[in-house]
Amino acid sequence: MRKKIIAGNWKMNKLIGDAVELASALKAKVADRTDVEVVVCPTFTALKSVGDVVAGSQVKLGSQNMHWEKDGAFTGEISADMLRDTGCQYVILGHSERRQFFGETDAGVNRKVKVALTANLTPIVCVGETLEEREANKTEDVVTTQVTKSLAGLDETSFRRIVVAYEPVWAIGTGRTASPAQAQEVHALIRKVLSKMCNPGAAQAVRIQYGGSMKPANAKELMAQPDIDGGLIGGAALDAASFLAIVDAAV
Ligand code: PGA
Repeated sequence: MRKKIIAGNWKMNKLIGDAVELASALKAKVADRTDVEVVVCPTFTALKSVGDVVAGSQVKLGSQNMHWEKDGAFTGEISADMLRDTGCQYVILGHSERRQFFGETDAGVNRKVKVALTANLTPIVCVGETLEEREANKTEDVVTTQVTKSLAGLDETSFRRIVVAYEPVWAIGTGRTASPAQAQEVHALIRKVLSKMCNPGAAQAVRIQYGGSMKPANAKELMAQPDIDGGLIGGAALDAASFLAIVDAAV
């Protein structure tokens, strides 16, 4: 049985004070929650402060990105060790906004995934098709390619540790959610691809989150699907009540 994982992707929102306030509220409410994994991913500037608030609690810390090099002349970049240093245990990699606005590629994501695993960070690897690709019936091809290339060259132990987030680009921040059946279809496809890349046992162990306008009103139905193991939440994660309602919907 895969434990559901609900992660809040706060994107470029919240100054340190607001981030600490939200993290404190979540920590108090999920204190006894061991049946679902709860992760918050603030901006880099708030990581350490939020990390201090949630240290030792049921709320885990994640970052929204990282660089693949260990250290050196990479102005503006943050390494895996630096993330560990703030208390991070997770890192979102290859989010569609990174791919769309910052030129991230599957090959780059693959490098980052390997480095994250070596640094003992759990990568949350994002994949998903654009509206244009969906309308051209390319969803299966696009998602298969992203999964195959982003996760190339991992051994079984690594496979079992990763989290995949299926985030149809047309559903992110648009209020338009994939229907449970549409999402399940792609989640099942991703699991099939993982199974081919590694083996069926490992594929069954991987948690696959859905992301894209997940909110309290649709979370339960989405997560009731057999291959949907949680959510990567943007907008609805910025408010304690709505994020907690999604956490509740996971169990
Ligand atoms: P959204 O964002 O919930 O605001 O659609 C999800 C994401 O981009 O991770």
